[in-house]
Order: sequence, then structure tokens, then C-alpha cells
Amino acid sequence: MVRTPADSGFYISQRWELYSEDNHEAWRRLYHRMIHSWERYANRHYLRGLSSLCLDPDRIPRIADVNRFLFRLTGFQARPVSGYIPAFLFFDCLRRREFPTTVTIRDAARLDYLPEPDIFHDIAGHVPMHTDPAFAETLVRFGECAHTAAELVAGIRDEHERMSRLTSIVKAMARFFWFTIEFGLMRSPEGLKAYGSGLLSSHGELEHSIESPEVQRYPLQIEWAVNQAFEIDRYQPLLFWVESFDHLFSLVDTLESWMRDGKLNNVAPGEPAVNEADLLSFTQPIR
Ligand SMILES: [Fe+2]
Repeated sequence: MVRTPADSGFYISQRWELYSEDNHEAWRRLYHRMIHSWERYANRHYLRGLSSLCLDPDRIPRIADVNRFLFRLTGFQARPVSGYIPAFLFFDCLRRREFPTTVTIRDAARLDYLPEPDIFHDIAGHVPMHTDPAFAETLVRFGECAHTAAELVAGIRDEHERMSRLTSIVKAMARFFWFTIEFGLMRSPEGLKAYGSGLLSSHGELEHSIESPEVQRYPLQIEWAVNQAFEIDRYQPLLFWVESFDHLFSLVDTLESWMRDGKLNNVAPGEPAVNEADLLSFTQPIR
């Protein structure tokens, strides 16, 4: 049975020579307008990661070059994909220290419009975090939880019950991922700093997430995060912070225990939607 993105044809090559000057210009403008915000609002692990990757502020990076720096730090590698990957395959990539990375870049004329992740979000937002050993271990641990979910539902004979439980567990995992890896904050002696890549790749929202009185910021509680719906097309009104990546790792452990105890079997309805391809990716035999 086909199980990995490599087998399934999700992995592609980055044809770097095909990027236009407009594409590089989009990268250059995105990068330069973030620099001051990163210095001010990004957590120190991100800033260290950014400098260890030696990204060129003026040109879209070659993913192979990024991996030369990244791999020796944590064993992670960015792997080019053409777009969406079903949930289990995506999480399983993390377990194998592979990060599915979009190679396209947004339109230089519409830098703030991002309907889907692009290479700036993935390489400048996510990948610097993957240079941090504690963060990397947390991602791997999260990926392992997807296997736990698949094993748990594999034993349920009733099809309707299996899909209903799986939908709830995947929704809980997606919400946890959203409120941590994508939009997480971390407490530090200098105040709250961002480690979530959705914040770190957004010129407007990074400052807003830390400074705006419109944002509610609370310590991360699993029971809240897994039941909290979110909307992707607006600045987040609610963010959660952790103390450290060791703290976040321990919360992923707890998430898995809750999954085993059945506490994620019926989380609150609402976004995100879990589609059929996501569900099927969990119910096919595990390699
Ligand atoms: Fe992301």
C-alpha cells in the first residue's frame, strides 16, 4: 500500500531556474519588510534558526541549500511539494523529520493576499524553527500522535463510528497544531514572543499578535485549544502561549494520552473541516 509522500508522488523537484525576476522580487520584499518585526517580536529560537540557515534576503532559496544547514542541526529536511497533502501523510512526514514545503510564491503585486501557504510561509515562517532541537522533537512527537490515532480507530468495526471518532480526533489535532505550530506564542523575560509560523510570515499579524489590545492571550490549555474553532482569513482574536518547547512537548504527550483515553472522541464542532482525503489517509494500512 502506498503510504509516504515520496511513494504517492506528492514530492516534486524545485525547479529553481523557473522562478521569474518577479518571483524573486516578491521574496525580497516579503523578507525585507519582516526583518524589523522579527527582531522585535520573534522568539530567540527563531532568530537563531534564521541566522543559521543563511537565507538570502534577496533571492528565493534553493531548498537543497537550506537543507545543507538544517539537516546537520536536527536531521530535519524541507521536501518540495506541489500543494495540499492529506493530514496523516503530512503529520507522518513530521515524524520522519521531513517538512512538506510549497515551492510557489505569492504575487508580488498582492503580498498580503495568501489563500494558501507559499514558500515564504514555509521556508521563512516554519523552517527556522526546525533548527531548534527541542522544537524539532516536539514536531516528531506530534507526528507520532497521528500513528496513535490511526491505530486507535483501526480497531473500531462500525464504519460510521470509526469515521465519526476519527473526524473528531483529526479536528482536535488540527486545532492543536494551529494554536501552537502555526500561531503559538512563548513567554520570555522580555514578554510574549511569537514562534508560530503563521505569525512569523505575516507582516501585519506579527506585530498585532503581540501589541494589539484586540487579541486575547492565554496560557495554552489543551481542553480549550482542541475545542476552539478558528477562522483562517482574519487576524486571530485568541492566541495561546507556552513557557518553552519542553513545555510544548509535554503538552503533546498529554494530547496523546487524552486521545488514548477517548477524550478527543467528541470535540466541539466547527472549523476546521476534515475532508474525506484526510480521513482516508488515516484509515489505510500503516506502512
Ligand atoms: Fe504553516
